[in-house]
Amino acid sequence: MSDVISEKFVRGLPKAELHLHLEGTLEPDLKLKLARRNGVDIGQSTVEDVRATYRFDSLASFLAVYYPAMEVLQTEDDFHDLAAAYFRRAARDGVRRAEVFFDPQAHTARGIPLETVILGYSRAAREASRIGVHADLILCFLRDMSAESAVETLAGALPYKEHFVGVGLDSDERDNPPEKFADVFALAHREGLHVTMHCDIDQIGSVDHIRTALTALGAERLDHGTNIVEDPALVDLVVENRTGLTCCPVSNSFVTEDMKATEIVSLLREGAAVTINSDDPAYFGAYVAENYLQLARVAGLSRDEVAQLARNSIEVSWIDEDERIALLADLDAYLANV
Ligand code: ADE
Ligand code: ZN
Repeated sequence: MSDVISEKFVRGLPKAELHLHLEGTLEPDLKLKLARRNGVDIGQSTVEDVRATYRFDSLASFLAVYYPAMEVLQTEDDFHDLAAAYFRRAARDGVRRAEVFFDPQAHTARGIPLETVILGYSRAAREASRIGVHADLILCFLRDMSAESAVETLAGALPYKEHFVGVGLDSDERDNPPEKFADVFALAHREGLHVTMHCDIDQIGSVDHIRTALTALGAERLDHGTNIVEDPALVDLVVENRTGLTCCPVSNSFVTEDMKATEIVSLLREGAAVTINSDDPAYFGAYVAENYLQLARVAGLSRDEVAQLARNSIEVSWIDEDERIALLADLDAYLANV
């Protein structure tokens, strides 16, 4: 019989969130506030009107809503306020470590200086430690832009290297395989940055992209990546190397036909370092605790399995070793007392 997993238990679990797009945390009320603050006409004036535009059934249709919404982000304070609102929610969900994505090219392409974006987000990340969230940024390249633009973006960001711990790859995967970005990932490795990349769900060539990311591009984690179940040798590889898979069940249920619970749970039970995350919670309506809960309910997870998901998230995070040990000890203490 499966355990009853309560919201209280899940929220209290010390955990890391490793797959979260800051731009995907733009809640309708904040969007309206920033639009007013910056005099941007977004064509909607109520939360309900904004929410009604948040409709999609695929990665491409989601991205078509996601990028135009960013127009309301103009100043360093706007980027700060967006990230600060997310960290407050994350703290309430038991997130103690957050490694969060941001998309500089989505802003520089519309004339916002890179410095404005990085300094706003970074200030909020530093302040988050006051509410118990140790946060770091991951700079993502938009894969539907050119490889040269990715290299220019990283080169332009290197003077701000103290503000981010790693790089990632996101946006529309169709016709944009990871090998297109071999040069920028090589540069990131030379600069000592961590490397992760999206291998989105059910894309054309998903398994080939996963293989390339793991064996040729030095990806330390895969964002999504559940199509790996189609290749047992690759599953063995990630189990052996403890490569983190940052899965996002509720997001999956919006952009594909289901949560991919079968794949996520089979990977977990085979010993892969599966983690649960929220991706773009303002758009998919679920922050990280809700993602744990929905997966646990759909898949009938035991309490030990839910705890293992949190343990995995801490183990594959890019936190300093002494902090990892402390966070794992907090997790053990929590489990011993519930
Ligand atoms: N940008 C924001 N969310 C994304 C996702 N889940 N996949 C690819 N690009 C994204
Ligand atoms: Zn994502």
